[in-house]
Amino acid sequence: MTDESPGKLRSVVVGLGSYLPKRIVSNADLEKSLDTTDAWIVQRTGIRQRHIAASDEPTSQLGLNAAKAALADAGLSAADLDLVIVATSTPDYTFPSVATQIQAGLGMTHGAAFDVQAVCSGFVFALATADKFLLSGSHKRALVIGAETFSRLLDWTDRTTCVLFGDGAAAVVLEAQQGEGTAQDRGVLTSHLRSDGRHREKLYVDGGPSTTRTVGHLRMAGREVFRHAVGMVADVVNEAFAATGTTASELDWFVPHQANRRIIDASAEKLGIAPEKIVVTVDMHGNTSAASIPLALAVARDDGRIKRGDLVMIEAMGGGFTWASALIRW
Ligand SMILES: CC(C)(COP(=O)(O)OP(=O)(O)OC[C@H]1O[C@@H](n2cnc3c(N)ncnc32)[C@H](O)[C@@H]1OP(=O)(O)O)[C@@H](O)C(=O)NCCC(=O)NCCS
Repeated sequence: MTDESPGKLRSVVVGLGSYLPKRIVSNADLEKSLDTTDAWIVQRTGIRQRHIAASDEPTSQLGLNAAKAALADAGLSAADLDLVIVATSTPDYTFPSVATQIQAGLGMTHGAAFDVQAVCSGFVFALATADKFLLSGSHKRALVIGAETFSRLLDWTDRTTCVLFGDGAAAVVLEAQQGEGTAQDRGVLTSHLRSDGRHREKLYVDGGPSTTRTVGHLRMAGREVFRHAVGMVADVVNEAFAATGTTASELDWFVPHQANRRIIDASAEKLGIAPEKIVVTVDMHGNTSAASIPLALAVARDDGRIKRGDLVMIEAMGGGFTWASALIRW
């Protein structure tokens, strides 16, 4: 820090874009092939429909579309970026990363691109990673993308899991800007990442290159996940409040990972966050894992709810377990 640049660097969101595959599968559509009902799915999860990627539409394509939208929103081009981080658990290939494919798709041959894998917490982990690069001064502008095709991991005969997930992608452009070092600054104010690998069996994919040499299917002990989710989410959100000296009443928007309406509502209630501040998109998108938070941000920004200067809390919990929060001044 020099006398000419007092305060603190902040990673400010200067662009946001999203992409959803065209095909929409409603609960009624699922009733045709599964022993399930729209009423059961809506009552237990809040989900009414999900988007499913076409078979020739891999994760990198969804992510590239979202990346282009975010860059256009920022009024920037790939030449202005020096970092691309993709949060995904559904890469096109075991390697190379989705991030390098999106980098190539953007015509970008400079900078660095890599994937982060923290399942449903992936976007918050990727955002926090980019934030730390930007705050170190080593990089100036980062594209952070959540992109998933969870439909490819599902056992479509297992009604306890396949009704819950969907495909999609969304991205933010972060730019290092000088702030004052207070909670009034625009940008990422704090982030809190946690993990505990003892919970592997509760939410996992039963395949992989170094075990079965197959892709595998998503397996979940739904009740167990539910039981842990609310407390874990509340812990990291409270850490974010404590670190910034802010409170639930100062929040403008609570944008949680969109897995299940009941988890979202129970978390908000535990945290004392008013229902009208909660952004909910799980009804339209299902659980899109690492894409769910930026997709929800895009919906709420585009319909005029999230505005410049608003205080926005994001949080997620997912396989691992992993869980995380970040507080952003928009
Ligand atoms: C998955 C989840 C919706 C299931 O709800 P639940 O109230 O726990 O229901 P249970 O798993 O106990 O199942 C209750 C009954 O519904 C049945 N059921 C499960 N899926 C069903 C479906 N899609 N349609 C109809 N019935 C279904 C079960 O077979 C069970 O029947 P049984 O009592 O005859 O055995 C809920 O546990 C949940 O949301 N968990 C968190 C999952 C999550 O968000 N994971 C992602 C985190 S990133």
